[in-house]
Amino acid sequence: MAKILLTRRFPENGIKLLSSKHQLDISDNPMSYEELYEKIEKYDGVVSMLSDRFDKAMIEKAKRLKIISNYAVGYDNIDMKAAKDQNITVTNTPDVLTEATAELTFALILAVSRRLLEGDRFVKDGKFKGWEPLLLLGKEVSGANLGVIGFGRIGQAVARRAKGFLMNIFYYQRNRNIDAEREYDASFLPLDELLAKSDIISINAPLNKESYHLINKERLSMIKKGAVIVNTGRGAIIDEKELANALKSGKLAGAGLDVYEYEPTVTKELLKMNNVMLLPHLGSSTVKTREKMAKMAANSIIDYFDGKKPAHIVE
Ligand code: DGY
Repeated sequence: MAKILLTRRFPENGIKLLSSKHQLDISDNPMSYEELYEKIEKYDGVVSMLSDRFDKAMIEKAKRLKIISNYAVGYDNIDMKAAKDQNITVTNTPDVLTEATAELTFALILAVSRRLLEGDRFVKDGKFKGWEPLLLLGKEVSGANLGVIGFGRIGQAVARRAKGFLMNIFYYQRNRNIDAEREYDASFLPLDELLAKSDIISINAPLNKESYHLINKERLSMIKKGAVIVNTGRGAIIDEKELANALKSGKLAGAGLDVYEYEPTVTKELLKMNNVMLLPHLGSSTVKTREKMAKMAANSIIDYFDGKKPAHIVE
């Protein structure tokens, strides 16, 4: 029986699985870095949240730790080199959250483009006095140019939805994916061209050295005037201060964010903007998906300590 830490209570199915095989400690509240640092040396395995920072110092403190099962597809919260140096296996939860995250991405695309937030406030503030020909005119999603940055599983699932809206799909990522281009009728474009051509830009890339501040001041200036940008990838892919400036200047018509550069802190200016929809990192947040993720994260730990190779090891 291994000693496992679940850093935040997650769906019951995963808890049942883990505690049927191992000694499980669960934190009912979010653990601060300091709390986790204090406790981590007692554990053989951990199920971590994307908000838990496993940097070099944390990993070096975790002398007994054999496996970090990250309850997320992204694993930019983990210093992979430090984990490798200490022979710690790292796993994530891919595939099962693809549809939920793409769905939320599309919800943001529709909500921001069609100004749903402003419409909702308008009605609730008692301002709706009758149909008006020029009230809250938005951007039509159907037939618009969609630029997807990061054409992995989630980016492609966004494209699949976009096809239903008869959108023209462009994508950018390091390597072209000819099969996906055929499947989604998508065209690869260099980033600068994609920014200039897209009416709606969706960021679905992971955060790494190459994608950090990929959308910076210079790139924001290349975006087509009046475009909408949504980000359900990772916050630090966009320079958030510069994003706020681009929105303030009217360069961008709106933005939909599920992730933030300094999560959970949000750049102050964004909080005041009516054309910006801000969500508390809900990408994978459906009952069905979170239960599947819990099962997957638990099974990674179980398989590891049963001497089997976990199904979703990240390198
Ligand atoms: C993840 O799991 O990395 C996503 O951010 C879920 O929303």
